[in-house]
Amino acid sequence: MNQKRRILVTSALPYANGSIHLGHLLEHIQTDIWARFQRLRGHECYAVCADDAHGTPVMLKAQELGITPEQMVEQTRAEHHQDLKDFLVDYDNYYVTHSEENKVLCEAIYTKLDNAGYISKRTINQLFDPEKEMFLPDRFVTGTCPTCGSEEQNGDSCDSCGATYSPTELKNPKSVVSGAVPVLKESEHFFFDLPQFEGMLKDWLQSGAIQEEMANKLQEWFETGLQQWDISRDAPYFGFEIPGAPNKFFYVWVDAPVGYMASFLNFCQQNDLEFDDFWTEGKDTELYHFIGKDITYFHCLFWPAMLEGAGYRKPSGVNVHGFVTVNGAKMSKSKGTFIKGRTYLDHLEPEYLRYYFASKLSDGVTDIDLNFEDFVQKVNADLVGKVVNIASRCASFITKRFDGTLSDNIVDTALLNEFQQAQGSIAELFEKRKYSAAIREIMALADKANQFIDANAPWVTIKEEGKEAFTHDVCSLGIHLFRILTIYLQPVLPVLADKAQAFLNDTYTWDSIQTVLKGHGINKFKAMMQRVEPATIEKIVDASKEDLKAAQQSKAKAQADSPLVKDPIAPTISFDEFAKVDLRVAKIAHAERVEKADKLLRLELDLGGESRQVFAGIKSAYEPEDLIGKHTVMVANLAPRKMRFGLSEGMVLAAGPGGKDLFILEPHDGAQPGMKVK
Ligand code: 2FM
Ligand code: ZN
Repeated sequence: MNQKRRILVTSALPYANGSIHLGHLLEHIQTDIWARFQRLRGHECYAVCADDAHGTPVMLKAQELGITPEQMVEQTRAEHHQDLKDFLVDYDNYYVTHSEENKVLCEAIYTKLDNAGYISKRTINQLFDPEKEMFLPDRFVTGTCPTCGSEEQNGDSCDSCGATYSPTELKNPKSVVSGAVPVLKESEHFFFDLPQFEGMLKDWLQSGAIQEEMANKLQEWFETGLQQWDISRDAPYFGFEIPGAPNKFFYVWVDAPVGYMASFLNFCQQNDLEFDDFWTEGKDTELYHFIGKDITYFHCLFWPAMLEGAGYRKPSGVNVHGFVTVNGAKMSKSKGTFIKGRTYLDHLEPEYLRYYFASKLSDGVTDIDLNFEDFVQKVNADLVGKVVNIASRCASFITKRFDGTLSDNIVDTALLNEFQQAQGSIAELFEKRKYSAAIREIMALADKANQFIDANAPWVTIKEEGKEAFTHDVCSLGIHLFRILTIYLQPVLPVLADKAQAFLNDTYTWDSIQTVLKGHGINKFKAMMQRVEPATIEKIVDASKEDLKAAQQSKAKAQADSPLVKDPIAPTISFDEFAKVDLRVAKIAHAERVEKADKLLRLELDLGGESRQVFAGIKSAYEPEDLIGKHTVMVANLAPRKMRFGLSEGMVLAAGPGGKDLFILEPHDGAQPGMKVK
């Protein structure tokens, strides 16, 4: 083997507010195939990923679900990791950006950038939701397009006419969060001085770190001029607070790529590995990010500039891929082509998708179309019909007639050599991420293996006298060829390769290609792969439509159940107004039902020397006798109200949606009647 390389690879970090879908899977599978290929070749290759935990959408989704963002992020992280593992995507670490390691690294990087003069502050005007009391990211504002007048358009661009604009230009703007009309509000923001890195970025982009077609496209950025990058967001925001700047948080795109480092750091700490070897300049290691074309800007401008500014190494390469389309169109929830990883896994084996994507992926950025008919045809024809078929055609003769032992004679050395000699070019294709070309070459070999078996028809010769040894040789060579094919395919189809190794009593390395299992004992052949039925695809599409319905229902339910939606927070009051409310601990000295009143109980409250009568609407939730002796909190200075049943001299505090779910507030033990609630 050539010199052992030390490599770290990453895939873009999935946001922690949605499920893994086919679009994510293209990238994770692309990364995993490359990492597995490097490991198969004997290189030291680590792959890390994480959930991208921060930002407004995550914060709002958690609110919608009535849980903390930390809870939601942990649940989603675990779910994402399981989905990816079930697609045989083998990360050394799958972490989360909301971690101590990431916080420490972000603070350290920011401080270095600040000390080096790359951070400045400036006041900007931004749309603000006066009801939710939060600044609104562009996608949380809708309104009428200023160009074509279409209604309900996004804050930054119009789906109808394609115009792009700033959210402040929208007509009749509305906050997506509360429906309120946003107002412009000033706030001080922190900026990263990207223009200072122009020279470095131009050199880096031309250094071969990124595909030529992307590097050329990225030249446009320099033509329009690099801008200062706004890296802060105001509270409320789920993220890391900027050191020395209370209520200012790092924009999620600052801590997300640092999350690559943090995930790896967490892995290093558990595995006695030197973090610095992979992140400082001048070490003999390689770092590659696999990303989609939509986030090139972040990875090819901001990220290398941040790394450089903070004294870290830059990536050896950023490998950009295109989007996934299904049957030639954008994935669509309503058509059932927005397919979640889990929905796919409920019906089909992960390797089919791995193989299909591999058969379509190149090193370019064109979109990858998943065509259902083509998918079924390819999996059935290539994997079941060609590759696995080679073994199934030969194995039973070896087992039944030749004592489970392969012949030690190679009947067609030229054919075997051809399979072995393909090793160099297949390796080069995998290395360069030209997977589709690698698969074409491997399948061309599989065709040759099948032609060889067809031409020699062991099922005929086995019955012919004197042809025994020949049949043994033919079937054995078939198995040798099958073995080589499954070694080549191991990065793409690790389970098939495992089954093949178990069948052959073998352990694959990349060098195994040049060895031959002459005179070697093998096991009984068991079916290794099933055909895909087109009806299964229909089931996946139907289930994806159901996923959409279920998501809509659960959102509606979460909203209906949410206390904040049922009882929205009232308009803000000033502190002075609040200070007027005198809240006191009161002991319920007596409680009784009120004749003819459906909802009310009459309470006698002891305020520590003073007694008050209060009518409280809590009859549906409490038996009066259960209340006697309890402490609660009352508004003691509410003007007395004359009610049908008598004078009510205050109000007790209770929470809940109503009916049985109504809870009077009980102070901790030790609170005495009459004490002021502060
Ligand atoms: O676009 C996205 O899905 C982001 N969550 C990717 C982040 S990649 C990295 F920078 F962390
Ligand atoms: Zn428009």
